[in-house]
Amino acid sequence: MWLALCQSLRVSVFLDALHKRPTSHTPIWLMRQAGRYQASYQAIRQKVDFLELCRTPELACQVTVDAVDQLGVDAAIIFADILLILDPLGVDFSFEKGMGPKIATPLRENAQIDAIPDEIDVEASLGYVGESIKLARAALDVPLIGFCGAPFTLASYAIEGGGSKNYHKTKQFMLSDEPRWHALMDKFARALGAYVSMQVDAGAQAIQVFDSWIGCLGPLDYDRYVAPHTKTVLDAVQGRVPTIHFGTGNPELYPSLKKAGGDVIGVDWRLPLDEAWSRIGEDRAVMGNLEPATLLAPKDVMCARATEVLKRAAGRPGHVFNLGHGIMPQTTVDQVKCLVDHVHEVSAR
Ligand code: CP3
Repeated sequence: MWLALCQSLRVSVFLDALHKRPTSHTPIWLMRQAGRYQASYQAIRQKVDFLELCRTPELACQVTVDAVDQLGVDAAIIFADILLILDPLGVDFSFEKGMGPKIATPLRENAQIDAIPDEIDVEASLGYVGESIKLARAALDVPLIGFCGAPFTLASYAIEGGGSKNYHKTKQFMLSDEPRWHALMDKFARALGAYVSMQVDAGAQAIQVFDSWIGCLGPLDYDRYVAPHTKTVLDAVQGRVPTIHFGTGNPELYPSLKKAGGDVIGVDWRLPLDEAWSRIGEDRAVMGNLEPATLLAPKDVMCARATEVLKRAAGRPGHVFNLGHGIMPQTTVDQVKCLVDHVHEVSAR
């Protein structure tokens, strides 16, 4: 009886915060909470490569659940990657050891863009992510987040051929051939919408859209070239589950990100939380905004910075504690656990 009650409370804290309802403490989870900084993850990766891990539901489920068990966080995120959808879109990619993603033939020719399918069969091509979600739901006692990349971030990988510093080729294409840019973004957005709908059908209780590299644009270009397409993705699940719209790099974009959609806006560390929240408006929940490098600092420094974030959130309903971007691989599990315990303790109401 008590166990059931505690479990239902643990479930509701994160989802209540997404809905801006008051909670007993500020829920916390960390972007990239499953990954190389964990010995348990490294042990699995010695046996299988990264893509095989993503495509094997039993292993993806295990990695998802291990992170929650080790850290005591209030939500899980399904183990997968934003690039997996490039498969059914016909864009070949790989992960070279220690190098990040590499696209075999980057999108540079009109014919390549025209050849991208208008529709994809998500069950046939990405059904393994749905299977991972079903397994993880059955094993977890905290809510499970599904996710995808936003059309811009995905397009930037496909066009640049991998990570980029300046996104010259992406911007050149965007500014040179607006109709074809919109056609490409629309194909990506509709595929992503189908993909996140499938994740919700499988049991995802919230959806996060990662626009990790959007900060290279200014607000006018964002509104014109990107916002309608990210909106297509978010609209695909709007009203079914809460959505988190995450972007980094340029706080001037927050009002535009909000307009494109998302019940929750994910913010990085470039503005103090209270300022970011006032730019977004208190009608939305927010997620963030601890600088990820504070996890590399002495514990007292990290905890003081976490307390500062909580102070600026001021206990208002609708704050989910997170980093401003993913956990760095140099971080220790012990340090992350210390952060999670600290946030739980200090925010208890
Ligand atoms: O715990 C979780 O957050 C769930 C799993 C998850 C991964 N990638 C696993 C992963 C999630 C949510 C992502 C999202 C993702 N992938 C993003 C958006 C978030 C962000 O950090 O901005 C992006 C941009 C990618 C693309 C990507 N995947 C890169 C650039 C890299 C290589 C660089 C790096 O950080 O390792 C990956 C590989 C990747 N995705 C790893 C993991 C655990 C490391 C793979 C390995 O084991 O070697």
